Amino acid sequence: MICVCLIGYPAKHSRSPMLHSYWLKRYGIDGDYRVEEIAHDDFPEFVAHLREHGYAGANITMPYKQAALELTQADELAQAIGAANTLWFENGVLRSTNTDAEGFLGSLDAVAPDWERSTDSAIVLGAGGAGRAVIYGLLERGLKTIHVVNRTFEKAQALSDRFGSAIVPASWDDLPGLLKDARLLVNSTSLGMQAQPPLDIDISVMADGAVVADIVYVPLKTPLLATAEAQGFAIANGLDMLLHQGVRGFELWFEKKPEVTSELYNLLATDILRA
Ligand code: ATR
Repeated sequence: MICVCLIGYPAKHSRSPMLHSYWLKRYGIDGDYRVEEIAHDDFPEFVAHLREHGYAGANITMPYKQAALELTQADELAQAIGAANTLWFENGVLRSTNTDAEGFLGSLDAVAPDWERSTDSAIVLGAGGAGRAVIYGLLERGLKTIHVVNRTFEKAQALSDRFGSAIVPASWDDLPGLLKDARLLVNSTSLGMQAQPPLDIDISVMADGAVVADIVYVPLKTPLLATAEAQGFAIANGLDMLLHQGVRGFELWFEKKPEVTSELYNLLATDILRA
């Protein structure tokens, strides 16, 4: 049996086990996906001896995505994003990558297959780890301008230094002007998440046919997405992103490229709504 785990702290609330268990069952693979809540001081040892702990690979979640990068042989993608979320062994070497960018792109492609053709700019709210993955993905698809709106302006500025002049740092005061006629907006902050402050912005000025994505998945439909949907915009939520980011890890560990289906979405959505 091939065992993989999710390492984080806290990690018990994660839907990744449900996601990977579904695929394991669906494809009849003899495998298991477990949760390992590891305290900060124990994380380096756990990763260094991942195989001895019984694992052929792992997902990494908060707060260890940056630390995982240092402890593994990271690929170019993980290095560029500055965080690793997927670990696997290659010829005995513990490698790492980051699948958040492709998870985000996969979720956009699924809800708005033509999104890249209708815009060459985007607004990204937030400049944390998730924001970096989103920005990396958008740049990869050739967007010319990405306005990064962040509470701490210096962090948005640092992303411009990291990713180049396509990244235009901005403050929340700039947002109303930026939203006018915008075609793509992504929330990568925790605003709008259950038990977090709301994300209170007016998106009615965005262009017809705009696309709005939110990395938050509890609640499934954030107030931002509900408003966007009512405006007739295409919406992608954090669960879409979670499902798509899981594809490559599963393929690396179990040598089968799994499919993101509406049945899978509904299974996890039902679980989130029930919680
Ligand atoms: P993640 O890895 O999930 O991106 P993170 O690195 O902690 O988490 O980033 C969280 C993002 O949400 C940051 O952009 C943060 O803004 P700061 O860089 O100024 O901290 C943003 N954020 C969190 N709480 C916020 C709040 N109350 N108001 C505005 N922005 C907030």
